[in-house]
Amino acid sequence: MLKLKNLSLKISPNLSLNQLRYFLTAKFPELKEFPKSIQSYQDLHKYSVDNSDHFWGTLAKNRLEWYEPFEKVNNNAKFSDLNKYNAQWFLNGKLNVSVNCVDRHYLKNPNKVALIWEKDEPGTHETVTYEQLYKLMNKMANLLKSCGVQKGDRVAIYLPTCTMVVACMMACARIGAVHSVVFAGFSAESLASRINDSECKIVITANQSVRGGKTIDLKKTVDAAVKQSPTIKNVLVYKRTNNKFNRNPDKDIIIDEVLDELSPECAPEIMDANDPLFMLYTSGSTGKPKGLVHAQAGYILQTAFSHQIAFDYDQNDVFGCLADVGWITGHTYIVYAPLCNGGTTVLFESSPIYPNPSRYWETIQRLKINQLYIAPTSIRLLIKNGDEWLKNYDRSSLKLLGSVGEPINHEAWHWYYDVIGDKRCKIIDTWWQTETGSMMIAPLPCGQNDVIKPAMAMRPFFGIDAVLLDERGQERDLTNAEGILCIKKPWPSMARTIYGDHQRFIDTYLKPFPGYYFTGDGAQTDENRHFQITGRVDDVINVSGHRIGTAEVEDVLDESHHVSESAVVGFPHETLGEGIFAFITLRKNDVYNEDELINELKTLVKSKIAAYAVPHYFLIVSNLPKTRSGKIMRRILRKIASDKFNEMGDTSTLFDPSLLDEIVAKYKSLK
Ligand code: PRX
Repeated sequence: MLKLKNLSLKISPNLSLNQLRYFLTAKFPELKEFPKSIQSYQDLHKYSVDNSDHFWGTLAKNRLEWYEPFEKVNNNAKFSDLNKYNAQWFLNGKLNVSVNCVDRHYLKNPNKVALIWEKDEPGTHETVTYEQLYKLMNKMANLLKSCGVQKGDRVAIYLPTCTMVVACMMACARIGAVHSVVFAGFSAESLASRINDSECKIVITANQSVRGGKTIDLKKTVDAAVKQSPTIKNVLVYKRTNNKFNRNPDKDIIIDEVLDELSPECAPEIMDANDPLFMLYTSGSTGKPKGLVHAQAGYILQTAFSHQIAFDYDQNDVFGCLADVGWITGHTYIVYAPLCNGGTTVLFESSPIYPNPSRYWETIQRLKINQLYIAPTSIRLLIKNGDEWLKNYDRSSLKLLGSVGEPINHEAWHWYYDVIGDKRCKIIDTWWQTETGSMMIAPLPCGQNDVIKPAMAMRPFFGIDAVLLDERGQERDLTNAEGILCIKKPWPSMARTIYGDHQRFIDTYLKPFPGYYFTGDGAQTDENRHFQITGRVDDVINVSGHRIGTAEVEDVLDESHHVSESAVVGFPHETLGEGIFAFITLRKNDVYNEDELINELKTLVKSKIAAYAVPHYFLIVSNLPKTRSGKIMRRILRKIASDKFNEMGDTSTLFDPSLLDEIVAKYKSLK
């Protein structure tokens, strides 16, 4: 066993066929159940795609605890079934995800640490064992039940990253309620619209959140949201701080005051493999954010499997995904996957630069983190602060470094590898989305003689059939190609629908290229068919790893009585990856002070969406560049906002080409 473990630490950069087999045998005992003819990573990947029933079926039988076995692995739904697409996995299987994530580890190893909550206050962390998590989860499940929450009901969770948020997510899974975690930086308006869209019965929050030494009154935001949300029966409040807060005797229940009276046992609900597990809102190129619904068995199986294989995760590792629980990265790789694997997972409440830019390194040293998983935006922020912040901290526990959320630039990749990882840790750039549930393209495990290439996500994960299409929807040969990244076959952890609007799900993801799942991203491949993600090809901006639809910001700006029209585009930003640029025209004869107007617009976006959606620049212009048929030419605005004045391409279809000179001149005076 020891030998295998050592081998697993050395799996890259040059992995021989024998090493691959050893690695996979240690992490992947099911390998022996697949044909002997499988001789390489490529063979195994091909097998997993061509025989996905046998592949996923074998894993699901071995890795999950079922009340009743499934009868069929999948229903063979095809992306081309535009009218009746409805993928199902592990049909008629019955299980409970909280049992898989908590009970089975609690029974085997109650004192093992499940969670390490790294609090905002520097140097302070709390550990939570599987036994403690089991009890807290059950207490919260009983509290939800006492509030009338039943299987299938939606529960909004508006909490910072802390032990309680995990207990609440697991409590929902235990009783079959569908949680809808809303990132605790969203405004009251955003929270209310999410609560109303899915008719949540309960919202769970904290009196305050604490980040970077500052407190935010979450309860106040929730009170404002609940005023607009008639379906909310109760607000459950967790006291994160000792600060006083407004109590509404009709609705509020203070968790800390009732916890002692609640039973630490709660029988798990028996769930169908395809029942919804949770929903999570994400932005798209049109309309309001979509509530993507993830199902039980497929999600938990693939997330746990990918966590173990792609992160080379060992049972005793401390896994440090330092994201916020409010996004899919947090759901999958802070909560569900590590717990399903019986691991120890870190909940990081703070910021990489609080109290100073050593925070990550001090935390890694103190908690002995083995895998670090962060976004390139944090890496760029830390590069800017200089290497001296790392010097006094021991990072020898680190084995692997992961990147997620946005394309990683070469400078960030090399700093991650050379400085943070001391050139000894593997780096995996992982591409995936809220919709995909778990990672889809990632460097590990390696194939024969492969090296991990800087800044590349590299190879589709097992079971994932990734292709590149041209604009007409034709598949490109994957050698040295460039195109629109699409997926050819359903996979277990794929979101099943958009809450309340299955047609929108089909229109958004399956209609653009019939027969394929459209990711919204572009990618290119090298001579070895390895993938590199180039970024969104639609009207979605990725600001420090957060997705925001340009239409969402425009809708808010257009609400201002000053604004006649707006066009929002992304531009390259040194640390955030992309920034937000708003071009606006004002109503005729409007009298305004430019600074005041811009501040007013910033406040409007912050209050309607969230701080991260506020444009970095506003440019007031007399008109927006449009075609003769009245369509705004965003392509041109994107070039202007990126300082690429010489790359505007064909401008002959513009209604008023002279307008460009005015916009460029104003833009230059702005920057
Ligand atoms: O554009 C891609 C980018 O983030 C989008 C998904 O955002 P979200 O659903 O919020 O999930 C983020 C975390 C999984 C993708 O469509 N993205 C994510 N990972 C990468 C990436 N872009 C490039 N490289 C990545 N590794």
